[in-house]
Amino acid sequence: MRVGQQAVTADSRRPAGLGRFGEYGGRFVPESLVPACEAVERAFTEAWADPVFRAELHHVLSIYVGRPTPLTPAARLSAELGINLLLKREDLTHTGSHKINNVLGQALLARRMGKHRLIAETGAGQHGVATATAAALLGMQTTVFMGERDTERQQLNVFRMKMLGAEVIPVTTGSRTLKDACSEALRHWVTAVEDSHYCLGSAMGPHPYPWMVRQFQRVIGDEARTQCASSLSTGAPDFVVACVGGGSNAAGTFAGFVDTPARLVGVEAAGGAAINAGSTGVLHGFRSKVLQDEHGQISEAHSIAPGLDYPGVGPEHAYLADLGRASYVTVDDAEVVAATHRLARTEGILCALESAHAVAWVIRAAGDGTIPPGATVMLTLSGRGDKDMATLMELS
Ligand SMILES: Cc1ncc(COP(=O)(O)O)c(C=O)c1O
Repeated sequence: MRVGQQAVTADSRRPAGLGRFGEYGGRFVPESLVPACEAVERAFTEAWADPVFRAELHHVLSIYVGRPTPLTPAARLSAELGINLLLKREDLTHTGSHKINNVLGQALLARRMGKHRLIAETGAGQHGVATATAAALLGMQTTVFMGERDTERQQLNVFRMKMLGAEVIPVTTGSRTLKDACSEALRHWVTAVEDSHYCLGSAMGPHPYPWMVRQFQRVIGDEARTQCASSLSTGAPDFVVACVGGGSNAAGTFAGFVDTPARLVGVEAAGGAAINAGSTGVLHGFRSKVLQDEHGQISEAHSIAPGLDYPGVGPEHAYLADLGRASYVTVDDAEVVAATHRLARTEGILCALESAHAVAWVIRAAGDGTIPPGATVMLTLSGRGDKDMATLMELS
């Protein structure tokens, strides 16, 4: 058994101390935000242990989001690749991506804490749309920060957020993408902690966010584990694959399989590969692997997928990588575009460019034998591709 499998089990993974995953995680925030983070930690710890809260979340996820999402065999692509590929269909959730799982958990938590406004950052716009949706459902207000460059490439989602009643604030500093939107959202939270909850969209940020977001997203992995147990003779797949931006869909997926022999593979964008190309540093309130220069200045990330265009990664992934329990690989934009077209043509599924990173790696790995013939691969398809059609149209 590998070290990681002994040290990390699905249920023992509440981070130690101030949210530490090994040397990563923690809470590096201005003093004025410490009480707010502590209040979120207290509220989440109580709510997660409260069967009434859990039942309400489960109910909303079922009657509003459409959970459980199916596990779809990708029959034609599997035949072409010589493997057995199963797709966990987060693209079929209400609003079209896994982001809604975490957002509804945090929105219910915010209401329990007496907050009536949600603040969010967004890159691809999916987390912003999910937050605006949850706010409309629960009668709350929303302010979404989005890099100006992302508002241009994701116009459809900006319009969706506005239709849902959200205020969308374009961020014009830095690279005008997700990193800058996160900084602005954190800055704004300092001025609005009294009545606002910061609904962070990935398994990153100061403690308790990486842990809390993973727990809200583990519904993906837990469902997929049960679905695999009933559909596979081996009970568990050989490989579990998900794309990694901040790391929430991958963290939620891996949580369901971390105590099985499955190989866990996180796929980073080549231009935003914090684990593969980064070093240890602090960004947006947590310590993890980040892209930075020799002076500790955060470098700009690049990906065709705006949700992966982030120079850091959630601390749990840096930890799982160190333990050797999960491996992290990269794919480039060209492979991603090719994978998007191939999945569309073989399976009739137009997936998000973020999700296509996972598909692209599976195509490459099945081709070069990294995934052996006949192996079973469970891949989380984190979202649908409508938002990316303008980008793909421009390319073609
Ligand atoms: C569809 C989709 N998948 C994946 C991601 C990446 O986020 P995470 O790594 O938190 O799952 C995003 C982020 O916007 C997204 O919209």
